[in-house]
Amino acid sequence: MWLFHSQCTSNARLSGKTVLITGANTGIGKETARDLYRRGARVILACRNILKATSAIEDIKKNPPSKADRIPYQGKPGELVVYHLDLCSLKSVKECAKNILKNELAIHILINNAGIMMCPQEKTEDGFELQLQTNHIGHFLFTLLLLPKIQSSGFGCRIINISSCLHWCAYNY
Ligand SMILES: NC(=O)c1ccc[n+]([C@@H]2O[C@H](COP(=O)([O-])OP(=O)(O)OC[C@H]3O[C@@H](n4cnc5c(N)ncnc54)[C@H](OP(=O)(O)O)[C@@H]3O)[C@@H](O)[C@H]2O)c1
Repeated sequence: MWLFHSQCTSNARLSGKTVLITGANTGIGKETARDLYRRGARVILACRNILKATSAIEDIKKNPPSKADRIPYQGKPGELVVYHLDLCSLKSVKECAKNILKNELAIHILINNAGIMMCPQEKTEDGFELQLQTNHIGHFLFTLLLLPKIQSSGFGCRIINISSCLHWCAYNY
């Protein structure tokens, strides 16, 4: 998959799999949820705004991905559920992980997608710079807390961290 040719060519079905996506109410997270839901996965949208997440679910159910006649979309769709997660608050991260560990039987794929960039200088309630906590520290703790569940969910489980090609610029510093 190259930068501007973003069609996933996999024909995998994900029936029986649980996928957790952070920041799935819009953008890349929402489109990923749309695709994986049609492949039969139980998709958990971990979002800080429940209203936005609920309206994303309505949209995902109503509108299939483009090229909806593709083989992986032909079976039964999966499920869509919402959990509250605000990565700016480590209290919220712990609470969300606790609820997921209590309610979910398995997590086969964790997609750490939520992110912000170039926000005004600000500190979180935990005293970290806002972008650092949202993109990195919050996800780090979240992943650590969910790790036992992911490890016990069977072979081939994955943790996917969405980042940016902007890291290439780091070579210049
Ligand atoms: N789009 C690009 O060209 C691009 C390029 C490079 C990297 N990326 C990376 O790809 C990922 C997704 O990008 P995108 O373009 O789809 O972004 P987006 O449309 O701005 O969506 C970001 C998502 O993150 C959520 N979010 C932000 N702060 C949060 C917090 N404190 N707690 C929980 N969720 C939070 C947002 O929720 P709200 O709706 O409530 O704000 C939203 O759902 C990001 O990690 C980004 O760095 C994107």
